Amino acid sequence: MRKKIVAGNWKCNTTVQEGVELAKAVNELVAKADAKNVVVVLGTPFTHITSVVSAVDASLINVAAQNCAAEAKGAFTGEVSAAMVKSTGATHVILGHSERREYYGETSEILNKKVALALANGLTPIYCCGEALSIREANEQNAYVKTQLEETIFNLSVEDFSKLSIAYEPIWAIGTGVTASTAQAQEMLAYIRGLIADKFGKAVAEETSILYGGSCNAKNAPELFSQPDIDGGLIGGASLKAEDFLGIITAY
Ligand code: 13P
Repeated sequence: MRKKIVAGNWKCNTTVQEGVELAKAVNELVAKADAKNVVVVLGTPFTHITSVVSAVDASLINVAAQNCAAEAKGAFTGEVSAAMVKSTGATHVILGHSERREYYGETSEILNKKVALALANGLTPIYCCGEALSIREANEQNAYVKTQLEETIFNLSVEDFSKLSIAYEPIWAIGTGVTASTAQAQEMLAYIRGLIADKFGKAVAEETSILYGGSCNAKNAPELFSQPDIDGGLIGGASLKAEDFLGIITAY
């Protein structure tokens, strides 16, 4: 059975000290709650990862980077390689977030390199896709997301593809308070699963965890997560408060 995953993406928020406190609070709540069926991931800034890994129980909480370099190593000032991320104790890496595509010019070509390096270093990519509002308004979201996947992770071997998770995050729902409707989210995730089935076979599609992200909170998570193709969430704002995040983790 495919995994249910609730992953927080802290983005560029919290100091190391605040992040450690938040991680500890999440750990404590998860330990008390019966959330064994959910893989919990905290996507922290690079600077926090080592401290957060030390502060949490690895059997309850996984830690993710929010990015990694497109090169293995060398003269790339300011970059953090996949090997470096792995050496912190992080297990996952968020790749292809729309904010990175939009503000930092991440193309499919760059993302292919990042995904390959993440996998080569034993990190689990949480690979993001999703359309802007203008594309949704033109009802071209399916073709857009299909291209995003075809240009990147659909080029992987079936063995490598089977190691990653996907997060569909419509840009118009990120940080806006406007969640995709349950029907819109389910429809897109079922569509993505169908594309995976066409490309890699039904068994692989059934095993791939596909998450929804975009203004997901403890209130709307139960309905979203009740859908057959929604395997969890990638959570921004609501992952910055331990109680709110727990409300999403226990929404199943
Ligand atoms: P919000 O939950 O704040 O809308 O952010 C979603 C997101 O971008 C997670 O990666």
